[in-house]
Amino acid sequence: MAKITIAIDGFSSTGKSTVARQLADALDYIYVDSGAMYRAVTFFAINHGIIDPGSGAFDREALLEQLPQIKVAFRKNENTGKAEVCLNDESVEDRIRTMEVSSFVSTVAAIPEVRQKLVEQQRLMGKNKGVVMDGRDIGTVVFPDAELKLFMTASPKIRATRRYKELLEKGEEITYEKVLENVEARDLADSTRKDSPLIKAEDAVEIDNSDMGEKEQFERILSHARNLISGR
Ligand code: CDP
Repeated sequence: MAKITIAIDGFSSTGKSTVARQLADALDYIYVDSGAMYRAVTFFAINHGIIDPGSGAFDREALLEQLPQIKVAFRKNENTGKAEVCLNDESVEDRIRTMEVSSFVSTVAAIPEVRQKLVEQQRLMGKNKGVVMDGRDIGTVVFPDAELKLFMTASPKIRATRRYKELLEKGEEITYEKVLENVEARDLADSTRKDSPLIKAEDAVEIDNSDMGEKEQFERILSHARNLISGR
């Protein structure tokens, strides 16, 4: 059967990755978490003293200089069967979703040279279709010809509550207010940056899941995807 490309964009913590993973499993497609790639580059910058999380100082030139040496890739973890993001061949999957990385990722993601490098890789991963990719610019920049584009939203408070629970479960010491602040700051930075801002593609289906259960949302999207695939 012909394969399609599914692009999922939207604000932070709207459940993009959950639905993307479910779709990829159901359709036997590849799932690519493009946000993990921006997070991996940010993690590199923090680890190499390019970003000082204490003062917030960021040496942009140093990052540009080291960019060619930063290798971001996905590798399947044979124990869990899930793809993990790797930085220079080492899995950093468990270390990129901290508040520290979240606090700087939108600054790093606004740099055109960083985007150019990662977008090139993302296009290669999707060149044979059969891919579900989530992020901020997937339907607008990475795959403007994707057959199915979704744009996910939910109220900031609901999103911050979801993210707060996730971080607590991982043992991070954090307050709800800090999480809400970060969610709102990233939404603003991502939507107003010059290069590839987060905007809804004209042909994207908008899904507000503030009051929608995970199962209902998934079933609706899957049936939409299957209709598109069988109509080809
Ligand atoms: O999980 P969450 O939705 O909070 O974020 P993410 O998907 O892990 O993405 C982290 C950050 O990477 C975003 O806030 C954006 O600044 C950036 N990003 C981007 O610029 N373009 C993408 N395609 C994906 C992520």
